[in-house]
Amino acid sequence: MPPRDGRTGPDTPPEPREERPPAGFSRRSFLVGASGGALAGALGGGLAGKAAAATPPAAPPAQEGPETLSGTVEVELRVNGTALTARVLPQTTLLGALRHHVDPPLTGSKEVCDRGTCGACTVIVDGRPVYSCMQLAVQMTGREIRTVEGLGTPDALSPVQAAFCEHDALMCGFCTPGFVVASTACLEKHGDPDLDTIKEELSGNVCRCGTYPHVFEAVQSAAKARGGRTGR
Ligand code: FES
Ligand code: FES
Repeated sequence: MPPRDGRTGPDTPPEPREERPPAGFSRRSFLVGASGGALAGALGGGLAGKAAAATPPAAPPAQEGPETLSGTVEVELRVNGTALTARVLPQTTLLGALRHHVDPPLTGSKEVCDRGTCGACTVIVDGRPVYSCMQLAVQMTGREIRTVEGLGTPDALSPVQAAFCEHDALMCGFCTPGFVVASTACLEKHGDPDLDTIKEELSGNVCRCGTYPHVFEAVQSAAKARGGRTGR
């Protein structure tokens, strides 16, 4: 019996293929059969769907977390000025590495959409705001990563963090770390941006609670507190 994956070994040469059509088989009968099969497939979609529904669901993908160790690689990440090592799967995102694989975990960057659409996971990489859920951790070696944890502390808030508090620029707060990081990158790039520039720079961040007017006020206020300078 051949192996189940279909391969044949040197002692089991493949059986000769049937080259000739069976008796009574013709080009016409093939075409009729093929079109009939297509029609049956189109009409039988419901049955096929039911059959598919009866098929047990595929096993869920491997969960990202510290317990998943097989196939991992070690990466060095420079985060907020500190060199960190983490063991990650090749497909682990930067967001996943920050939240689950460094010690201590950096959970300030939020996982909301995990699809590069909401901005809650925004971090600064080499001076530019990026969605950390769309970056692979293994590609971050040698890059300078800054997260919301590196911008200020509860006792010494950054100008942007302080302005967000002062201007009540958050409600549920899920989007806030991403907005704070993106706003910081905006001010480091533009110094004292006008409102249109602020809106443009923050257009990759979504707030479901609708705090945009307060966020924009906070960024303008923070720009004044920073003296309108660019850079850190
Ligand atoms: S969680 Fe990364 S963009 Fe939404
Ligand atoms: S404050 Fe709730 S999503 Fe922005």
